[in-house]
Amino acid sequence: MTTIPPDLIEMLRTAQRIAVLTGSGVSAESGVPTFRDAQTGLWERFRPEELATPEAFERNPKLVWEWYVWRRELVAEAEPNPAHLALAELQQAKDDFSLITQNVDGLHQRAGSTDVLEFHGNITRNKCFREGVIVNGGEDTSSVPPGCPSCGSPLRPDVVWFGEAIPSAVLSSAFAAAERCELFLSVGTSSLVQPAAGLAEIALRSGARLLEINLEATPLTSLADHSLTGPAGEILPALLQEL
Ligand code: OAD
Repeated sequence: MTTIPPDLIEMLRTAQRIAVLTGSGVSAESGVPTFRDAQTGLWERFRPEELATPEAFERNPKLVWEWYVWRRELVAEAEPNPAHLALAELQQAKDDFSLITQNVDGLHQRAGSTDVLEFHGNITRNKCFREGVIVNGGEDTSSVPPGCPSCGSPLRPDVVWFGEAIPSAVLSSAFAAAERCELFLSVGTSSLVQPAAGLAEIALRSGARLLEINLEATPLTSLADHSLTGPAGEILPALLQEL
């Protein structure tokens, strides 16, 4: 059972401007694999340069597409867990609440969160590899990957690959949320991937307090006002109970 320090409870109760950054650890308890955890992380088993770059897709579109089909199936079978549900509930309790996620699984939305800032896109959407336009129906399914209905180019998942830019509207909303929040929560992320990892430091420089929730220490831990060690699916509901 996690002990929640009284000053953290006070901070949670009084802060009205809250920004949360989540990473794959938040979905781990739903059965969606993380990226860097030993044994189970995707990047422990697969090479990102073969599966998650535009160059990899150009080299071998079928391999990349099929890997994403497999990941989509994992996501389709998953259900939101108590961490996702607690964050959706926290949004209801606060005037100014921003949820920024690096996850592409859509589980926050399925738990009831709204206006989620999807930093790395969403695996359930497709877009045209050439034009970048979202495609929702009408695709040519005679090939793998399917073809864009307007230009015939292969479709790709609407996720951010290594070497690609974060969607600009999402990036500016996330930076603004980090700058104006009173309390920033970093949950279930290794804090290794930029620019997402830099959001907590923007919040700190702007005067926010920082709470980290993770199973282990990260590069952010020494900067955090509070660091709660344990599963997000237990700690977040426990925090909600204190509101
Ligand atoms: P990582 O795999 O790098 O980190 C997952 C973090 O979650 C680790 O620090 C774990 O200790 C922690 N964790 C695991 N299970 C947890 C649980 N039940 N409760 C709390 N914490 C838990 O995943 P991310 O930080 O999300 O980018 O990775 C960031 C980005 O790197 C991803 O969005 C992806 C990847 O390459 C792209 O695909 C662009």
